[in-house]
Amino acid sequence: MSRDLEIGEIPTAAAGPVPEHVAIIMDGNGRWAEARGQARHSGHKAGVGSVRSTIEECIRHGVKVLTLFAFSSENWRRPRAEVNLLMDLFLTALQREVKRMQTNDIQLRVIGDVSAFPDKLQRRIDEAERATRANSRLILQVAANYGGRWDIVEAARRLARAVAHGELDADAIDDRAFARATTLGDLPDPDLFIRTGGDLRISNFLLWHCAYTELYFTPVLWPDFDADEFRKAIADFASRQRRFGQTSAQVKVAD
Ligand code: IPE
Ligand code: IPE
Ligand code: MG
Repeated sequence: MSRDLEIGEIPTAAAGPVPEHVAIIMDGNGRWAEARGQARHSGHKAGVGSVRSTIEECIRHGVKVLTLFAFSSENWRRPRAEVNLLMDLFLTALQREVKRMQTNDIQLRVIGDVSAFPDKLQRRIDEAERATRANSRLILQVAANYGGRWDIVEAARRLARAVAHGELDADAIDDRAFARATTLGDLPDPDLFIRTGGDLRISNFLLWHCAYTELYFTPVLWPDFDADEFRKAIADFASRQRRFGQTSAQVKVAD
C-alpha cells in the first residue's frame, strides 16, 4: 500500500450496493512485460502495485473480503525460472507487507495447497496468518497453489472422513455444510468476480463459490489495473440486478 489508511476513514460513497466479497484473477502480467520488450518477471513485479491499490480501494469502498488468485495449481507447468521468481516475489511481499497489514487492520489468509511450497515460504505464510489473525477491517485471501476442483475434492474428503469417524450423519450434508468444509469456510461467496487480461474463462478458480457471482471481465492487463479500473468494476456491479432465480418484478418488490 502506498500509504496507511486511517482506521475509521470514511469510505467513498458508492451508488448502489457494494460487493461484500470481491475475487480477482490477476492476469496479464506476462503480456504487459512482453509488450515493453521486458522479461515476463518484470510484469509480475509491476503487478504488486496493482495489488496494493486494489487493497486500498477495497478498504475505501467497505469491501469486507478480497480474494486474489496469485498462483494456480496449474501454474507449476510454467518454466522453472518463472515459478521460482513467483515464489520469491510472494516471500518478499509477505515479509514486507505484514507490518502494513497490522497498521491497516487487514487479516491475511492463504488458501490452497501450501504444503507444496518451499519450507521457508510455508513458515512465512504461517507467521503472517498468525500475526494478522485478530484483524478484521478487510480479510485478504491469497489463493496460492489453489484449484477450484482441489478445493471441492478436499471438502468432500473432509466430510467423508467425518462420516467414517461417526462425527457426521451423511444425510446432514447439505449446501451449507459442504460450503463450510471448503477453504472459504463461513466466509460469504464472492459477489463480484473480476478477471483482467482479456481471457474469458474461470481457470479453475473458485468453482463452488462462484455459482451466483457476478462476472466482470476486462482487457486491461493486471499491472495497469489501477484504482480507476477497480471503481469501474464496482460501478458495473452496482448497476446489476441479482435475481437468484426470481423474476425481475419479484426482486423489485423485495427492494
Ligand atoms: C498472471 O499473469 C500471473 C500469474 C498467473 C502468476 P500471467 O503470467 O498469466 O500473464 P499472461 O497471461 O501470460 O500475460
Ligand atoms: C490464472 O491465470 C491464474 C492466476 C492468475 C494466478 P493463468 O494465466 O495461469 O490462466 P490460464 O491458464 O491462461 O487460463
Ligand atoms: Mg495468464
